Amino acid sequence: MSERHFLYPGTFDPFTRGHLDILERGLALCDRVTVAVAAGGKATLLERDERVELARGALTGIAGVDRCRVIGFEGLLVDVVRDLGATAVLRGVRSQADLEHEQAMAALNRVLCPGFEVVALFPRPELAMISSTLVRDVARCGGALEALVTPGVAEALRRRFPGG
Ligand code: PNS
Repeated sequence: MSERHFLYPGTFDPFTRGHLDILERGLALCDRVTVAVAAGGKATLLERDERVELARGALTGIAGVDRCRVIGFEGLLVDVVRDLGATAVLRGVRSQADLEHEQAMAALNRVLCPGFEVVALFPRPELAMISSTLVRDVARCGGALEALVTPGVAEALRRRFPGG
C-alpha cells in the first residue's frame, strides 16, 4: 500500500493543545503528517516563522514525532498538497460553524484540485473550546495558559504580553 501522508494546514496563531490533539490522532491514522503553517491571508499576532517554531516545539516529545514535520507555506493549499504528494488534508472540526467552513473549503479545494480529500476529526470534548483566538485573548489579559497551550507556546505568549 502506498504511503499515507496527511497535510495538516492552519494558521496556528498560536498552535494549541487542541491542534496537538488533532495532530496526534491524525498521526495514528497515517504514516506521516506535515503540519503546514499558512503565511498570509489574515492578520496574525505572530509572524509565520515564529508560528512554525512554536508548532515544532509543541510536537517535541509526542509519540511519533519522527513521523511529523512542520513547514511554512504561502499561496494555495492545493499547490502544497500537489507538491508534497499528500494523500489527504487533516482538519479539526469543533462546532457546527467549523463544519460549514470546512465543507465550503473542501468543496472549493476539490474544484481546484480534483481528488482533494479531507480527513476531519472531532477534538476531545475537553479541548473543543480551545481556539487560537481565545488563547490570544487570555494571553493578552494575563490569564493561565497551561491548559490551553504547551509550555513553549505559553512562554512565548507571556514574553509577547509581559504586562498581560
Ligand atoms: O487554521 P485556519 O485559519 O482555519 O486555517 C485556514 C487555512 C490556512 C487552512 C486556509 O485559509 C488555507 O488553506 N489557506 C491557504 C490559501 C488557500 O488555499 N485558500 C483557498 C482554500 S479555501
